[in-house]
Amino acid sequence: MEKKNIDWSELGFAYMETDYSYVSDFKAGKWDEGVLTKEHNITINECAGVLQYAQTVFEGLKAYTTEDGHIVTFRPDLNDERLASSAARLEMPLLPEGRFVDAVTKVVSANAAYVPPYGSGATLYVRPYMFGSNPVIGVKPADEYQFRILCTPVGPYFKGGAKPITIKISDFDRAAPHGTGNIKAGLNYAMSLHAIVTAHKEGFDENMYLDPQTRTKVEETGGANFLFVTGDGKVVTPKSDSILPSITRRSLVYVAREYLGLEVEEREVYLDEVKDFAECGLCGTAAVISPVGKIVDHGREICLPSGMDEMGPVTKKLYDTLTGIQMGRIEAPKGWIHVIE
Ligand code: PLP
Ligand code: COI
Repeated sequence: MEKKNIDWSELGFAYMETDYSYVSDFKAGKWDEGVLTKEHNITINECAGVLQYAQTVFEGLKAYTTEDGHIVTFRPDLNDERLASSAARLEMPLLPEGRFVDAVTKVVSANAAYVPPYGSGATLYVRPYMFGSNPVIGVKPADEYQFRILCTPVGPYFKGGAKPITIKISDFDRAAPHGTGNIKAGLNYAMSLHAIVTAHKEGFDENMYLDPQTRTKVEETGGANFLFVTGDGKVVTPKSDSILPSITRRSLVYVAREYLGLEVEEREVYLDEVKDFAECGLCGTAAVISPVGKIVDHGREICLPSGMDEMGPVTKKLYDTLTGIQMGRIEAPKGWIHVIE
């Protein structure tokens, strides 16, 4: 199969239409069979649940070309599980058993020409999502839904790639206790837009959100979980009921313990202790592991000893091992790699 003529190394994290998307409709209490489509625009009623009350949830995963030329995805079963818990929280229907991974497989395979080659530094970003599609005017769940998957080739989420970024402590909150912070609902991202535009205007790359109840504990950023490394090489990652259970973070915790023999603490992390960490990174599908060089708390600068030039050594080891597993250079734990073709 011939690849599309794209300058893979120049790709940022932006939308580019590919040949196929996947679409399935839920009507009269059941899902249809689902098909691949070349139509990338959607016509829905002006009063659709998604437009009026933001009834939409989504996922994000990537397809990689491995060193030996296969196209694979990474732990799509966990995206399936998380989409189900997001949908349940917003009173949306669950997909039929097996449908999610089957649909990912079909749509990635149909877009194989857009899966960036091994070593190009780019990947195919896969975005499954579901939304309420029929009219609702009283506040209630829709009766009809659409599940779609779009694919788009992407490069690094942050412009500098592996260059350390600078983040600020946000004055805005991302998620309330017992709210929707632990699911992947579009509404969590809508309410982060003002905060991220504000941070960018002030010259920062991202926001660190604190727990809204006490504003003393580290939660996450708008699109990634945190990983910290202590001076003696221990990995520490915040535990909270109001952050997204990142698949990348959960995988890195395993990699740290089982591949690198590192000690890992998953616990509440206080803002006060951040100044004592040696390294900090943001982890997620889009972010992979993006190193943080500086955290600014209302003018007070916390400069990570790893500096602004490159990733710290432990972050680098985690990065190399995770991407090695994803690209087939390092043997993966059983069930982590889903071969598409
Ligand atoms: N936190 C938020 C708010 C996110 O949007 C994401 C991205 O999916 C993550 C964390 C990282 O999750 P994952 O590693 O499953 O992509
Ligand atoms: C992802 O990493 O897949 C996300 O959904 C994060 C988003 C901010 C791009």
